[in-house]
Amino acid sequence: MSKEKKQFETEAIRTQLERTEFLEHTSPLYLTSSFVFEDAEDMRASFTEEKERNIYSRFTNPNTSEFVEKVCRMEGAEDGYAFATGMAAIFSTFAALLDSGDHIVSARSVFGSTHTLFTKYLPKWNIETTYFDINKPETIESCITSKTKILYAESPTNPAIDIIDLKLLGNIAKKHNLILIIDNCFATPYIQQPIKYGAHLVVHSATKLMDGQGRVLGGVTVGDADLVREIYLFARNTGPALSPFNAWTLSKSLETLAVRVNKHCENALKVAEFLENHPKVNWVKYPFLKSHPQHEVAKKQMKLGGNIVAFETKGGIEAGRSFLNAIKLCSLSANLGDTRTIVTHPASTTHSKLSEADRLEVSITDGLVRVSVGLEHVDDIIKDLSQALG
Ligand SMILES: Cc1ncc(COP(=O)(O)O)c(C=O)c1O
Repeated sequence: MSKEKKQFETEAIRTQLERTEFLEHTSPLYLTSSFVFEDAEDMRASFTEEKERNIYSRFTNPNTSEFVEKVCRMEGAEDGYAFATGMAAIFSTFAALLDSGDHIVSARSVFGSTHTLFTKYLPKWNIETTYFDINKPETIESCITSKTKILYAESPTNPAIDIIDLKLLGNIAKKHNLILIIDNCFATPYIQQPIKYGAHLVVHSATKLMDGQGRVLGGVTVGDADLVREIYLFARNTGPALSPFNAWTLSKSLETLAVRVNKHCENALKVAEFLENHPKVNWVKYPFLKSHPQHEVAKKQMKLGGNIVAFETKGGIEAGRSFLNAIKLCSLSANLGDTRTIVTHPASTTHSKLSEADRLEVSITDGLVRVSVGLEHVDDIIKDLSQALG
């Protein structure tokens, strides 16, 4: 793969494997579990890593390497490793870097399974997490102890679309010598590149906008080469690798990331503006609306506002549920970042097991609806939302 740095869109399309004797135009799919050696010496040198080459697809595969290389170029990262899902990326990143007794400081509003990882599973290995309120960043430093190793956040958050100042996090991480990890799934590297602000690692659910077509699951962690090396060794031995087929699909998906995300964001802004003026809506949260509480921070660190719009229906939990029941065109689905617009009502679904007070701590009010705005014609999306609001 060429080393010369090109524009984002060009890297997304032209980062590809060397052509084989067949002179294929796009990279072929290497659906093979292992690779062969020339002789005993080749095998020895490969296993001792004197030679950089593919051995077994749990370690590396040409298709996963191409996908990882593209994400590294997009995020400005040194190295990376691709996983079967976003959660595999997040779990493996923490498991590889932390020891028993280490401590994490994390934003309270993080994706539900990440929160479960922090509260239920990592404590089994004596790893505790202290949470800070994303809307009170001035409290972050008071959460840091001598055992803190990782500072973690998402921006924008799922599902409340809060924004945190990445530069501020980068400065805190530097001052306290912490590893800053950012889940950049909602923004994608097209919109925001956390490494520029001091993040050491960036994690992604590639299942979302990276694939963007609701087809495959995937995850990736990219960042500082020495940290990625630890993560690679953990993953190589524990087996959460991305499949070659999914890597091939995701690499093709990245070719259209910029055009898709541009259009997603254009539609999302129109949907947000429509909702903001609707009498049955209490409030709308979209980073590129002036009314967003962290609009100024969003404008500084994001190129566009993303494709997720959060809003609150008047009438609480029942209003949220009846809104969902009245939807005709959009999908009721657990995914996001698809070409198809998807609506969810977190209080009655993903977060229904939490008490109202606990939901409020992560900015989820009873009437909160999350819209993952798709690529259908925006007039049709708005028409559907409008008739469902009644
Ligand atoms: C912000 C965020 N991070 C991580 C994940 C987990 O990704 P996956 O479903 O690919 O495991 C999700 C899934 O919705 C997410 O929204």
